[in-house]
Amino acid sequence: MSAAAGPKLAPYTLVWKHEAAEDIWDICLETEGELVQGLKPGMFVNVAVPGDPSHILRIPLSFYRTDPVRGWICMIVAAVGEGTRRLCSLEPGEGSTLLAPLGHGWRMPQEGAKRALLVAGGVGAPPVFAAARMLQARGIDCDVVMGAKSERFLWKEGAQALSGNDGGAGYESALSRGGFCEVFLATDDGSYGYHGFTTGLAEELVGKHSYDVVMTCGPQPMMAGVAKVAAAAHIPCQVSMERMMTCGFGACNTCSVQMADGTVRACCQDGPVFDAEEVLWK
Ligand SMILES: Cc1cc2nc3c(=O)[nH]c(=O)nc-3n(C[C@H](O)[C@H](O)[C@H](O)COP(=O)(O)OP(=O)(O)OC[C@H]3O[C@@H](n4cnc5c(N)ncnc54)[C@H](O)[C@@H]3O)c2cc1C
Ligand code: FES
Repeated sequence: MSAAAGPKLAPYTLVWKHEAAEDIWDICLETEGELVQGLKPGMFVNVAVPGDPSHILRIPLSFYRTDPVRGWICMIVAAVGEGTRRLCSLEPGEGSTLLAPLGHGWRMPQEGAKRALLVAGGVGAPPVFAAARMLQARGIDCDVVMGAKSERFLWKEGAQALSGNDGGAGYESALSRGGFCEVFLATDDGSYGYHGFTTGLAEELVGKHSYDVVMTCGPQPMMAGVAKVAAAAHIPCQVSMERMMTCGFGACNTCSVQMADGTVRACCQDGPVFDAEEVLWK
């Protein structure tokens, strides 16, 4: 899958925000509808934040839903450093510019696929959420594993929206159709749901059900583990990789991903979604 049009720089305004978990914000940015139209699940946007531009690059961010009619891009952002903290502290009406659409998103599984296993760790959840909605639109059932270090970092509203329960304050009408996924929550410390890593839960599910595809986004060690589980069960697996990014469009070589065949690919341009078997996991 490739972007319908090249990336475009456009102004945005923050139109909505809500703290979805500790230091994790659910925010919607409004920009040009045509640009939003070009964003496919698994792609990303590069967001500038107001303030001193000298030490903050644009921030690469995934999204969990888009609304081309209103020009909205909605995302889950962990405030981990100065740039993300500035973005999450914007008030409605404030904004800057963003560059999008960027990267290559999820690929639709092979014809006839019936059931998918999606695995999200931490703020890997937004693109996995977008993948679930993409698959649901094609009639593919999804089991979704969502994990976090602890309950306070879990995006529970995302899980609720996927499983069809009350979406809570973080969601709008488009999600009310809900109920299309079986969602399994995991925490590393056992404070909520399954006690352990998402990989353990994924392995249990793969042992019980037949999946046609696995899609995952989260910390690299988690994705390496999920890729291993999928490979052992001979299930095609797509991974959405994260790298430090400077330009976001293939011009700076800061986002290299080592491939199993010895080549190096640009995460921003050739990814962020890759076939797991193409990647050199180390
Ligand atoms: C394709 C892509 C999609 C992403 N989607 C999301 C998302 O949906 N939600 C979300 O919260 N975050 C996402 N990230 C990570 C996000 O871009 C970084 O957290 C952000 O750039 C940190 O910027 P900062 O100025 O706040 O922090 P900094 O002060 O620059 O860094 C704070 C910490 O974050 C790490 N970091 C910085 N940049 C990145 C990066 N590009 N990738 C990973 N770690 C980084 C630093 O090493 C440091 O430990 C994504 C990254 C990529 C590459
Ligand atoms: S971020 Fe510049 S080449 Fe990928």
